[in-house]
Amino acid sequence: MKRIRVNLKNRSYSIHIGSGILKDAGKILKAELVGRDAILITNDKVKKLHGRMLISSLKRQGISTKVFTVPDSERSKSPAVAVRLLEDIARYDTMKNIFIIAFGGGVIGDLAGFVAATYKRGIPYVQIPTTLLAQIDSSIGGKVAIDLSIGKNLVGAYYQPKLVLSDVAVLQTLSMRQLRNGLAEAVKYGVILDEKFFNFLETHMAAILSKNQKNLIAVVNECSRIKKDVVVADEFETKGLRTILNFGHTLGHAIESAGKYKLYHHGEAIALGMRMAAHISHQVLNFSHQNGQRLNNLLTSVGLPSSVKRIGWAAIYQHMLHDKKFICGKNKFVLAKQIGKVRILDGIKLNYIKSAVKAYSLAN
Ligand SMILES: NC(=O)c1ccc[n+]([C@@H]2O[C@H](COP(=O)([O-])OP(=O)(O)OC[C@H]3O[C@@H](n4cnc5c(N)ncnc54)[C@H](O)[C@@H]3O)[C@@H](O)[C@H]2O)c1
Ligand SMILES: [Zn+2]
Repeated sequence: MKRIRVNLKNRSYSIHIGSGILKDAGKILKAELVGRDAILITNDKVKKLHGRMLISSLKRQGISTKVFTVPDSERSKSPAVAVRLLEDIARYDTMKNIFIIAFGGGVIGDLAGFVAATYKRGIPYVQIPTTLLAQIDSSIGGKVAIDLSIGKNLVGAYYQPKLVLSDVAVLQTLSMRQLRNGLAEAVKYGVILDEKFFNFLETHMAAILSKNQKNLIAVVNECSRIKKDVVVADEFETKGLRTILNFGHTLGHAIESAGKYKLYHHGEAIALGMRMAAHISHQVLNFSHQNGQRLNNLLTSVGLPSSVKRIGWAAIYQHMLHDKKFICGKNKFVLAKQIGKVRILDGIKLNYIKSAVKAYSLAN
């Protein structure tokens, strides 16, 4: 088992990564003294696939478990579902030493983390992420949130978990589309900070896609380390460093939202956004065409989309204007200088953005 320490003073915690470690969750949690009574927040799908393993592991260590399930949908990240969970927890919480376990993908992680951050002004919680995206991205860094009807992630907090436990064995049941979705963020980490990891993805993609456990551990380990470094350097996003995690996200978010969150999963939209960001990077930062080609080839080898269908420049532009990264009408882009090196730039000329979008869009 690998262990990564996230050093954040009195909010420090460990990320445990391995294959088949879900059965040791009870022992690991007990050693970290998180609490005696677990509130397990999950959905029916994850509960059915992997719940028994986790619950029996907790039971063996004398940790009681109360399970609350929410519907398997982004719509569960809503005020209504959060309040319902809070009421359920308050009713259950008498003479107990409770803590929350977020057991699922990023939806469950963000929602359960938000509930943990707000119930009694904050109780301990643990992330046990079960999608690749959640293992390499959303479970690390303490950003928790719910959505409002007007936009995603508008209500939330920075609230670090007590522990993250990533078992790559649970990814065996994950659909290929969801695996590819997570891999878009892995490619992003390579581009922003780590050429060596980018090379690793180039040479091992076939094995990763076949869910080879050793390779999945390497992916989760490297990505967790990279994200941890960024979070430790800029926990509350006050220094501008955490912004580099948004490579591909300015246009990616616009595509995701123009597709009403139905047409593309997040990672698919981000893959398109990264291809476009690389195109702008050629113009603005002399990012080489050879490196642009490497990025395109890697994303294609993952099986991520290579062009936007059905959404044109006008719609993407409209949605970009409404993004929270568009501060006072000024755009902000993370652009690549080389693989492993990025810069944050604002006020990119509209012409550059437009030609990048048009280069990867089949619609007008
Ligand atoms: N907090 C952050 O820093 C951060 C970062 C990135 C994304 N997010 C959030 O994460 C969410 C997306 O997360 P996601 O991509 O994990 O989506 P998700 O949570 O919807 O999970 C995707 C699907 O996979 C299923 N699933 C989960 N584990 C499984 C398993 N082991 N086997 C089979 N199926 C499984 C889920 O039930 C769901 O149907 C969004 O709400 C996004 O805003 C948060
Ligand atoms: Zn993302």
